Parts: sequence; structure tokens; C-alpha cells
Amino acid sequence: MPDSKKTRKTPDQFRSFRWLGPDDLRSFGHRSRLKQMGYSADDYAGKPVIGILSTWNELNPCHTHFPQRVQEIKRGVWQAGGFPVEIPVMSLSETFMKPSAMFYRNLLALETEEVLRCYPIDGAVLLGGCDKTTPALIMGATSADIPAIFVPAGPMLKGNWQGTTLGSGTDAWKYWAERCAGHLDECAWRGIEDGIARSMGHCMTMGTASTMLCVAETLGLTLPGASSIPAAHAAHSRMAELSGRRIVEMVFEDLKPSDILSPRAFDNAITVDMAIGGSTNAIIHLIAMAARAGISLPLDRFDEISQRTPVIANLRPSGQYLMEDFYDAGGLPGLLQRIGASLHLDCPTVNGKTLGQNVQGSPVYNDEVILPLQKPLSTAGATFILRGNLAPQGCVIKPTAADAKLLKHVGPALVFKDYADLKARIDDEKLDVTADSVLVLQNAGPLGGPGMPEWGMLPIPRKLLRQGVRDMVRISDARMSGTSYGTCVLHVSPEAAVGGPLALVKDGDLIELDVPGRRIHLRVSDADLARRRQGWAPPQKPYARGYAWLFAAQCTQAHEGCDFKFLHAGRATPEPDIY
Ligand code: FES
Repeated sequence: MPDSKKTRKTPDQFRSFRWLGPDDLRSFGHRSRLKQMGYSADDYAGKPVIGILSTWNELNPCHTHFPQRVQEIKRGVWQAGGFPVEIPVMSLSETFMKPSAMFYRNLLALETEEVLRCYPIDGAVLLGGCDKTTPALIMGATSADIPAIFVPAGPMLKGNWQGTTLGSGTDAWKYWAERCAGHLDECAWRGIEDGIARSMGHCMTMGTASTMLCVAETLGLTLPGASSIPAAHAAHSRMAELSGRRIVEMVFEDLKPSDILSPRAFDNAITVDMAIGGSTNAIIHLIAMAARAGISLPLDRFDEISQRTPVIANLRPSGQYLMEDFYDAGGLPGLLQRIGASLHLDCPTVNGKTLGQNVQGSPVYNDEVILPLQKPLSTAGATFILRGNLAPQGCVIKPTAADAKLLKHVGPALVFKDYADLKARIDDEKLDVTADSVLVLQNAGPLGGPGMPEWGMLPIPRKLLRQGVRDMVRISDARMSGTSYGTCVLHVSPEAAVGGPLALVKDGDLIELDVPGRRIHLRVSDADLARRRQGWAPPQKPYARGYAWLFAAQCTQAHEGCDFKFLHAGRATPEPDIY
């Protein structure tokens, strides 16, 4: 909601006026170069310059429709009296980027902040959706703190194979296990490959992309309902155009991220993350995003909110349906209306109304997809925080996606020192493993991975798959895809690569998992752990230069959000001088 104390901006108060307005040599240069591009003064003079930050490239399958959406956003900006300019920024393709898209989240955040600062941009449209693009764009725009609106990529259509509905990621893992167990031939496997991703848009399960876009909408950074619209739906184009119109007004109102992002807004976002059965990745991103707004989110806040929030989105991987069903059932506005009593409804949003005003009267059309509060998927939220001598700074688990029988478990550790070791041995027929073993992966965290890859859903050994085993307790300092499932303890902090207790686990050590008691315990005495620590040496850091060196030097641990220390703190950077 616009601050009533703020007066409506006049064109000479726009940032861009400093570039385009003055009668001096520098401004002459800026204006003449706009004319070089074919614009006349009527196109831009006295108008807010709107930067459309597009995370499109030809290796990001989730954003293939962005060139068209940019045109639709531009249409809205022109209609409302703004001057739109497209600013391509790095695309974080979850599918293709290695070692992981997470490794580059902070680079996109840095780029976002700096392009918004260095160019004559008065307001920004942030066009993203594939997993890390959402937190990165929001982190950068929050630090730049100019008016900004988010346009979510939208989920792709449901997958289909021989009449069976397929969900991104979730069903790939599921059918791969069947293939490894010998239950699926190559022809069937190719059929799944053909049908699992069949339109533009991001993963359509409640993975990280869907979660983070629901979070962005709940924070108040998108138009109401924007995050649920399938990418291929005509309503998605209309939402893009409306967002273009709205950002122009936001510039006049001077409605900035700092007016919208508050501790209460982040509590709302955590509540929704829990109610939708959101991705575990959201915890890391929310901590980092909040920190950019100067708000501290301790891990325990997630557990507190989780305890009082039922999971009511019946979506894979926790539930049954997919994002297209969610949209048809009423989408996020319907869900927000249903959990309204748990939300701070007076929080402002980009359209100038409160969250409560936006969702008031929003219907739910299908109680199977958005469940009634009295019939939730789970009475507690999607993510629990565990602590113990194995994770002094905490770790996370998604119990709704785990086998309930394993939530209290004691078993002997089977340790893999890194992913290469896991890959080399996991399917060895002689591997000393049973269904009761606890698979432990070391050195897959923020610095160990590096970039905390999504390796946390460790594969079940092939010989156990053939015996019918489909879930085991798995522990790592890695993340897992929001589309994954299983009894996977993730984000163990501190990570093994910096000498966290995870680095000291040995084969055969008994590990106790007690999810209801929020405990993860290594049954090894403190004295033995101290002895082991003396023999521990940190892994070699292979990067001596470049971005990877910067990452290794600056990335914080999982419980701190994995942002770079130098982006996380410090005084606001001033506007650039123009001489
Ligand atoms: Fe882009 Fe899943 S690969 S959202």
C-alpha cells in the first residue's frame, strides 16, 4: 500500500531524470543515443523508464516464452505512459547449469542489483521462475530498492504418459527407481521422456520454482493470483501486460521493496511455504531474501510456524495433484483465503492493496486439491528443523514427503566421502548395506559441493531397489530438489567441508533420527569425536581464481542463507555519480 505520507512523484524526481533531464553535455549524450536507437523525445521524456529484467536464454527450457512476455509487458508499460527497456540478465537454468544453479544465485542477485543501479531505470519488472531466478532477482531488487514487480514464469502443463499424469522431477525419480529395479523397459522410459515436459513453463510440481513463486506472491511482490497461472494459459499474457501497467504507477507512488518486505510479510511467506508443502530450498532462500531487507530469520522460526500450519495443498511431491490443478482449484488466492486466520492480512502488496483485500472472497473450486483446514494432508507444516550433535546449527527434513515409518529410526551409518565416491560404490552388489542403514553423504554443502547441489535425495542402492526398498534414511549437507521425496535429512550445518560433525562420521556409527522430537544424534562420545577431529583435514579447494574462488571465500552456511558476506551486510550503496 502506498505510504500515505509519500507525495506522488513528478518526472523531475525520477532517477532517470538525472541521466536525461539536465541541460549538460552528459545528458546530451544520453538523449542523442536514445535517438540513435530510433526513439523520439515523445517516447521517453517525462516518463518513468521501466527496466524489464528477463532471465531468458536458449538453455533455459522453463523460460522459452519470455521473449513474448517481454513484448506483453512492454505493451502494458506503453499503455500506462512509461518507457520500457528490456535488460537481459543471467538465466539460471536448473536443468543445465553445473555444478548447480544455486552456485550462481548470488551472481544473478549481484547483477540484478548493479544493472538497476547503473542504468537510468525508475522501476523494474523482474521476469523469472526457474528455481533460483526468483530469489536471486528479489535479493538484487531488494538491495537496489527501486520500485519492482515480479512476473512469475508460470508452471508448465501437466505431463502425460499413456494416460498417466506425470509431474516434473517427482515422477522422474519414481520411474527411474522402477527402471533400476528392472520393472520398466527402455521403450517405456523413452515414452516418459517424451511426455514429462510438454510445454513452456517451470516445473509443475510443488518444487522449488512453484514454492518460490507462491512465496513471492505472498510477500506482496506480484499481482494477486499471478504465481499459479500456467505459462501456456492466455491469462498469463494478460497478467504480464497488467504487471507492465502497474509498475508505471508504482514509480509515481514510489512503492519500493522496502515498503513491502517486513518481518510480518516474511512470516506470511513461511506460513504459506508450510501450507503448500513447499520445497526445503525455500528455507535457504527466505533467510537470504529477508537478510537483504535487514530482517533476521532464524531457522527455529520456520519450525515454530510449521507447528501451527497444516499442509492443505494436495500437490506432488507431498500430495497428488499438480500446479495446473491448483490454478483450476482457485490457486494461491484460494489457499490464502483458506488460511487467512494465520496470516497478517494487513501487509501491503505491489498493487497498492493489502494481502487481505486481494484475497477477500477468493473461492476454492476443488476441495480435493486445496484441502479444507479440517482435512489437511498433515496437521503440521511441510518442513521441520532438527538439531543435535550431528547438526549443531540445524538441518531440515520434509516429513510429508518421507516414509512415516522412518521418522523415528536408529541405524548404522554408511558413509560416502563425496558424490564421486557415492556414484562409484552405491550400486556395488557387495556394498554392506541393508534397508536399516543410514546413508551419509559428506562434502556436498555450500563450499563442499560447491554450491550445495541437489544431491540430498541419495539414490537407493540398486540391490535394495530389487528387494522392494523405496525409502531409507539419508543425511547430507546438500540440498534436494523441491520435486524430490524420501526420508532425506538436508542442509546439515555446519557442513563437512568446514569441519562440521558430519565430516567425522564413520561407517557403522549409529545415527538416531527422531523427527517428532526434532533430534538428530550421532551415538559417538564427545571424547571420540574430539579424537577424530584431530585427524581431520579440510578438503583441498580446487579453485584458485575467478567466480568459484569468490564463492568459496564469501558464501555463508546453509542456516545463514548462503548469501555472500559482502552482499549480506554493510551500508546501502549510494546512487552513481554522473559527471
Ligand atoms: Fe526450471 Fe524445474 S527446471 S523450474
